[in-house]
Amino acid sequence: MKAIIVHTDRNGIDLAWEDIPPLAPGPGEVLLDVHATAVNRADLLQARGLYPAPPDESQILGLEAAGRIAAVGEGVVTWRPGDRVCALALGGGYAEQVVLPEGVLIPLPDNWSYAKGAAVPEVWLTAYANLCMEGAMRDGQTVLIHAGASGVGTAGIQIAREWGARTAVTAGADDKLARCRELGADLAINYKAEDFVETLMAFTGRQGVDLILDCVGGAYLEGNIAILKPYGRLITIGLLGGTTARLDLAAVLMKSLTLKGTRLRARTREDKAEITRQFRDRLWPLLVAGKMTPVVDCVFPITSAGAAHQYVKDNRNTGKVILEVRPGVA
Ligand SMILES: NC(=O)c1ccc[n+]([C@@H]2O[C@H](COP(=O)([O-])OP(=O)(O)OC[C@H]3O[C@@H](n4cnc5c(N)ncnc54)[C@H](OP(=O)(O)O)[C@@H]3O)[C@@H](O)[C@H]2O)c1
Repeated sequence: MKAIIVHTDRNGIDLAWEDIPPLAPGPGEVLLDVHATAVNRADLLQARGLYPAPPDESQILGLEAAGRIAAVGEGVVTWRPGDRVCALALGGGYAEQVVLPEGVLIPLPDNWSYAKGAAVPEVWLTAYANLCMEGAMRDGQTVLIHAGASGVGTAGIQIAREWGARTAVTAGADDKLARCRELGADLAINYKAEDFVETLMAFTGRQGVDLILDCVGGAYLEGNIAILKPYGRLITIGLLGGTTARLDLAAVLMKSLTLKGTRLRARTREDKAEITRQFRDRLWPLLVAGKMTPVVDCVFPITSAGAAHQYVKDNRNTGKVILEVRPGVA
């Protein structure tokens, strides 16, 4: 079977579609024929050697996949060969086949393409886990989502809308801000033209926000701390704007703030299965009914994975960039 193998030389990084040994599912696992996978920022870092895969999991890129089950391992009774599913992968999604634990599988409706299915697992589970579980988002609260037009952001806006929260986002281009408003953002701030702290303070009557989902990190820490209300929560999921900053501990103490960092990839198989179970119970029916939608920006063939990575690196996407592995096959 074929998979993307990363080659690094003095000319840069080459993502090559090459033959690798076949895989087999172990107990409690399934083997999936991958039809589509999707690009995540973690893949860009992993390809550059900056975010190694856990040593006991696949070293191939790819944190999600959609496809058809080819074979099931010992003890798997809920799933059968031929079932169409999408799932969070433990790595290995950029390949013709991937092995997945049965607990992370999500059944794909007949009328969903594999591309649409591949747009769900990583960013919707991240948004759900951090807004609803870690962030304890509640009806009537005000939530700020940085990088609102990202894959995680476009999922998060829709989840916050469904939870009855008031949502503000930041993004760096007017077309991205417009898409965020269409998805349900009550306030969309162009961080390149406005100071998000001032705009949000005016918007909230100087009350601030209850919860922040942040993937910018260092560059936004001071502003994030300033706009959190008492008992506010800051959930850090990325460091696109740097890893270090000065922290005003007096504000953390006086406002009883909670600062958390989380990584979906680092969670155990059991944790991933639990997040998937809650997501399937609480949100998946709304996606299947069309009340929420995964946002797909564009589709590249897997053989153009390098170009897809460059597109994401250039911040050109709104929502997900999909890699098609088996074009045109139902
Ligand atoms: N911790 C976890 O478990 C977890 C899981 C999944 C994803 N993530 C992280 O969540 C973030 C979003 O992931 P994604 O796949 O949804 O991303 P994405 O679709 O690639 O979008 C990221 C967007 O962030 C904005 N951005 C980039 N650099 C920025 C900077 N220095 N300052 C402000 N904004 C910047 C850009 O939009 P603009 O044009 O609007 O600037 C870019 O398009 C990433 O950092 C990713 O690593 C974390």
